Amino acid sequence: MSSRAYLQNLQEQIESYLRRAIPRGDVEALYEPARYVLEAGGKRLRPLLVLLACEAHGGRAGDALPAAAAVELFHSFTLVHDDIMDHSETRRGRPTVHMRWGAEAAILAGDLLMGLSYFELSRAAVADVRPLIGCLHLTMLRLCEGQMLDKTYESRQDVSIAEYWEMVDRKTGALLAGALEIGARIGGASEADLEGMRQMGWALGRAFQLQDDYLDLMADPRTWGKPIGQDILEGKRTYLLLAALERARGASDRALLDRILGRRSGPEDVTAARELYARLGVLREAEALIRAYYAEARSMLQALPPSPARDGLEAVMEELSGRLR
Ligand code: IPE
Ligand code: IPE
Ligand code: MG
Ligand code: MG
Ligand code: MG
Repeated sequence: MSSRAYLQNLQEQIESYLRRAIPRGDVEALYEPARYVLEAGGKRLRPLLVLLACEAHGGRAGDALPAAAAVELFHSFTLVHDDIMDHSETRRGRPTVHMRWGAEAAILAGDLLMGLSYFELSRAAVADVRPLIGCLHLTMLRLCEGQMLDKTYESRQDVSIAEYWEMVDRKTGALLAGALEIGARIGGASEADLEGMRQMGWALGRAFQLQDDYLDLMADPRTWGKPIGQDILEGKRTYLLLAALERARGASDRALLDRILGRRSGPEDVTAARELYARLGVLREAEALIRAYYAEARSMLQALPPSPARDGLEAVMEELSGRLR
């Protein structure tokens, strides 16, 4: 089977499992928004990592499917709550849950998704699910810590680039590392293998979040599925903003950055920020860093024995790495 056919087969298994993951209840006002976010699609990166990490350690993808679904349900929960916190109006090409049904329903739909996630994980085909639950639980703590840092940075004027990476490792790296670890555990990985998977997840998380910040400004609005320039309007302390702050000298450049920092920027500032970041070389620097972190994650694949799953992981990272529009 070609690498593409192999990955496509895993993706189909994920989709078909997820279609049945949310039960119908008589309180459809709760279940419908949860199904809505899950059915909208998305890249399904994290469940794919679960299956690939399982097979890369000698396990069978079928045994990891409930865990893969658990991780995607968990991710969807974080997105629904993140969109409330970030005041985002679109996600996966549709209005966000809180825009369509209100914040109360979105909070509850997120809670439901989180609960279903733990339920699916408890069904994993392993002798002892406790290490898996423990891993998801630690991931949860790290991710919430990262989300809290993200919010508190918004009102701070002195966030450093080191602090940015600390936030990214938690809000994004933790779940990617958790997905790889959970899959590898189901595949029967040793403790040393698990550490390798976690390291790969952290590198991937840095590449992925920096790329998300870059695309927030640079993506094609017709395919991105989320608002463009939202990080600027919300005053997010992204790598792009922090690097620009280090480099900007002129008074009008500083005035623009101060408006972003003070969360006083408007739509015209999004275009101006794109132009400024390009002029300061920040965009080129970010592109190089994104590639470097993907390359770091890929280099860690060498620790795994050759297998279709290892090739699959490589193909996934290769494809992600090329997404710069
Ligand atoms: C969005 O994740 C949240 C970030 C960590 C940037 P994805 O970009 O994987 O979102 P979907 O699942 O494809 O919609
Ligand atoms: C994503 O950060 C982190 C989590 C959802 C936990 P963002 O806020 O940048 O994600 P998007 O861009 O809204 O998907
Ligand atoms: Mg956010
Ligand atoms: Mg967001
Ligand atoms: Mg983003």
